[in-house]
Amino acid sequence: MKREQLYSGKAKTIYSTEDPSRYISEFRDSLTAFDGKKKGEVSKKGYYNAQISKKLFDLLESKGIKTHYIKMLSDNEMLVEAVDIIKIEVIPRNIAAGSITRKYPIKEGTVFKNPVIIMDYKSDEYGDPMLNEDIAVVLGVATYEEIAIIRQLALKVNDILIKYLDERGIVLPDFKLEFGRKNGQIMVADEISCDTCRFWDKETGRSMDKDIFRFDKGDLTKAYEEVAKRIVPEIFQ
Ligand code: TMP
Repeated sequence: MKREQLYSGKAKTIYSTEDPSRYISEFRDSLTAFDGKKKGEVSKKGYYNAQISKKLFDLLESKGIKTHYIKMLSDNEMLVEAVDIIKIEVIPRNIAAGSITRKYPIKEGTVFKNPVIIMDYKSDEYGDPMLNEDIAVVLGVATYEEIAIIRQLALKVNDILIKYLDERGIVLPDFKLEFGRKNGQIMVADEISCDTCRFWDKETGRSMDKDIFRFDKGDLTKAYEEVAKRIVPEIFQ
C-alpha cells in the first residue's frame, strides 16, 4: 500500500500510495517544540494522537465539515485525501494562553467573548510569523476567497469542538488547524490531537497536552492516555 515517503515532519510522515489521490499519514512518537529546538520521543504518543484525530475528524464530518480523513489503516496510520497543504496555521483562541500572553498585554486565563482567530505563516525558517490576508496573497499561499472560507471553517470547527470536549470534561483554550485544497475544495487536514490543541482538565485546570513536553510539566503519556480515555473510550475496551 505504502509507496514512497513524500514528507517527514516533526511528528508525522506522509507516504504516497498506489492511488495518486490518497496519502498515508503516519503518526510517530517523536515530538518537538520551539521550532524544533527541543526534541523528544514519547511512547504511545503517535497511537493516542492518531486515535484522537480520527475521532475528531469523524465528529467534524458528521457535522458537515469536510476533512482529509478516509480511514484508519493501523493503530497509528490513516489513509487521507492527497491535498495541497495551505501553508497557514490557523489558531482559534477561546482563553488566553501561550504565545498570545507573551506577545500582547493579555493575561493567561482571559476568556475571549468572541473567539480570536490567529493565522501564522507555516515556516520554521521564518519562525511562523503571523500573517493577514494581504500577506497571504503576496506570499501566494492562499487567495482572499480561501482565507475567508478558512476563517468561517475555523470558527465552525471551534464551536463543535468546544461543545464536544466540554461534555467530556475538557476545556479548549486554543488549538491549531491546517487546511488542504483538492479539486477546488478546502478541507481540514493534518491532525487534531494533544500535540496541536491546548486541553485543560475542566475540574483542575491542569494541562493534558503538549505543554507538558514544552514546559516539563509531568508525564505526557499518562495525560494523553487520559484524553484518549475521554474522547475514544472504545480503544480501551
Ligand atoms: P501558541 O500559544 O504557542 O501560539 O500555540 C497556540 C496553539 O497552537 C496551541 O494549542 C498549540 C498549537 N501549536 C501547534 O499545533 N503547532 C505549533 O507549532 C505551535 C507553535 C502551536
